[in-house]
Amino acid sequence: MKKRLTAAAVALLIALVSAGCKKESDQAHDPRLLLGFSQIGTESAWRIGNTVDIEEQAENYGVSLMLENANQKQENQIAAIRRFIAYKVDVIAFSPIVEDGWDNVLAEAENAGIPVVLVDRDINTDNPELITCKIGADFYSEGVMAGEYLIRKADSLGLDHINIVEITGTANSTPMMQRQAGFFDTISGDERMNVLESIDGDFLKSRGAECMRYLLDTYGDSIDAVFSHNDEMTIGAIPEIEEAGYKPGSDIIIISIDGGQDAIDILKEGRINCVVECTPKLGKALMETALKLKSGETVDEVIHPQEQVFSDEQDTSLIAPRGY
Ligand code: AHR
Repeated sequence: MKKRLTAAAVALLIALVSAGCKKESDQAHDPRLLLGFSQIGTESAWRIGNTVDIEEQAENYGVSLMLENANQKQENQIAAIRRFIAYKVDVIAFSPIVEDGWDNVLAEAENAGIPVVLVDRDINTDNPELITCKIGADFYSEGVMAGEYLIRKADSLGLDHINIVEITGTANSTPMMQRQAGFFDTISGDERMNVLESIDGDFLKSRGAECMRYLLDTYGDSIDAVFSHNDEMTIGAIPEIEEAGYKPGSDIIIISIDGGQDAIDILKEGRINCVVECTPKLGKALMETALKLKSGETVDEVIHPQEQVFSDEQDTSLIAPRGY
């Protein structure tokens, strides 16, 4: 009798456990939230790190992610947002490649009752209500930090004149406009600083190389400092400087933005002087915001991650692996 009861109890236990397991695995296929995210493309290590982080955090938070890569084209992003609307996702997020031209498609999202979150970059709109939250870096501060570094460097080297060339990111994108504004506002009060030229490098390594070649051909020996809006363009520019016979980091001051591992390694070698951090790790804040929106909670209008400056002013051997 005792034996039969035990067997029955075991059978009951197995039935309960398998019912529980079934329920759990059903839940795994029944996400708490469906999030549509339109990524700009794969133009940089930063962008790839950002995509990976968003995918990983979606998994961590049990969010079902519809991810679309726009391959650097605004029209692809607009088409992706329309697909998200047709699919009736719970929340739409996107990193706008440029600031202008979003109002129509965002009005369609608003009419469908789907909240929209901006990730990384901002838009220019007459109707700010179209956006519920912006999650991304304070690009203006990044430009300020780059300018402040250059002023400190000029002080420490005792320089009385600095000719600067600027290689900018994608025209009409938020980081391009804000980084330039922050940098110019910071250096403009210092009469030693002189900008020779600003040139569009589109955040691409190949364009960084082309721009640098042109700048060296045009200004040669006069260039004292390069302010490049991202690591990718900086990494493209450095071999051009070396081929022209100059030492980046000593003959020419090199300032970059992002803080990816490759640029940090070059900083450690002394061929970049300063890298202002722009973290791609925005996924956690995005998932938490999207979940709050789904459950009807209020969310912060703007979320800026904390960022820092890496430079030859510190012991660079202590910089921890960057993870992107
Ligand atoms: O919008 C962030 C910028 O876009 C990063 O600085 C750059 O590397 C990326 O492509």
